[in-house]
Amino acid sequence: MTASPTEDAARAVAGIGVSRLTASYDGVRVLHDVSFSLACGEAVALLGRNGAGKSTLVSALFAMEPQVEGRIAIRGQDVTGWSGHRIARLGIALVPQGRGVFPDLTVEENLDMAALWTRRQAGRAWTRERIFDSFPRLAERRRFHSASLSGGERQLLAIARALLTQSQIIVLDEPSEGLSPRAIDEVIIGTVGRLKREGYTLLIAEQNMAMALELAERALILDHGTLVYDGSSAGLLADEALQREHLGL
Ligand SMILES: Nc1ncnc2c1ncn2[C@@H]1O[C@H](COP(=O)(O)OP(=O)(O)O)[C@@H](O)[C@H]1O
Ligand SMILES: [Mg+2]
Repeated sequence: MTASPTEDAARAVAGIGVSRLTASYDGVRVLHDVSFSLACGEAVALLGRNGAGKSTLVSALFAMEPQVEGRIAIRGQDVTGWSGHRIARLGIALVPQGRGVFPDLTVEENLDMAALWTRRQAGRAWTRERIFDSFPRLAERRRFHSASLSGGERQLLAIARALLTQSQIIVLDEPSEGLSPRAIDEVIIGTVGRLKREGYTLLIAEQNMAMALELAERALILDHGTLVYDGSSAGLLADEALQREHLGL
């Protein structure tokens, strides 16, 4: 089969490459012909109003719920048709919308569960102890059930779980949802900002444009399942008409 130029471009990037992606639920199409790519080490915001298709796009990357057509490449590998587990082993981790931590398990147990998914490898970068050294808030709460954590602490735990998979690409789905401005500052800007400085490749799906653009140098905007902007954060910040039309700001 001959690859089109777009498909070649999608495969060539070391981060995430999506070309001509459509996604549907029970035959109802919610993403239309979406193409973009993320280079290794880039931090990109995925913006759009509620229902625009951000979570659907994120789910498609991990071969979760929607039925998809088109191509997805992760770290240069065409993963079209792969299972979510196999994709995750390439080194991409999801911090799901609503955190996805197990409320009945303690902080420690949640971290151990995440580490189970990791390929055994010598000299692993992230261990439970390194998580506790890096995030003292989690160390203090290590024996608490995660249901008793604050929203910010739960988000931190969800990020720590993603790190324990040793992935270099982290996808966060609405990390700021339901958090106080202070928790957004400390947990999201603080922690995710640090990951960015450490060279992680980040895709941050958000409705909170101001927060996302503090972290991301580039933004994508979905509107009714169509990609309507792929450009610099500065360009978007300067374009109020664009913000009004596609983000309702
Ligand atoms: N599991 C699902 N089954 C059917 N429709 C869904 C499902 N998840 C999302 N949708 C629909 O797909 C569209 C995009 O939703 P979603 O991707 O969750 O948007 P966002 O994350 O941007 O808020 C919406 O119309 C939503 O109702
Ligand atoms: Mg969503």
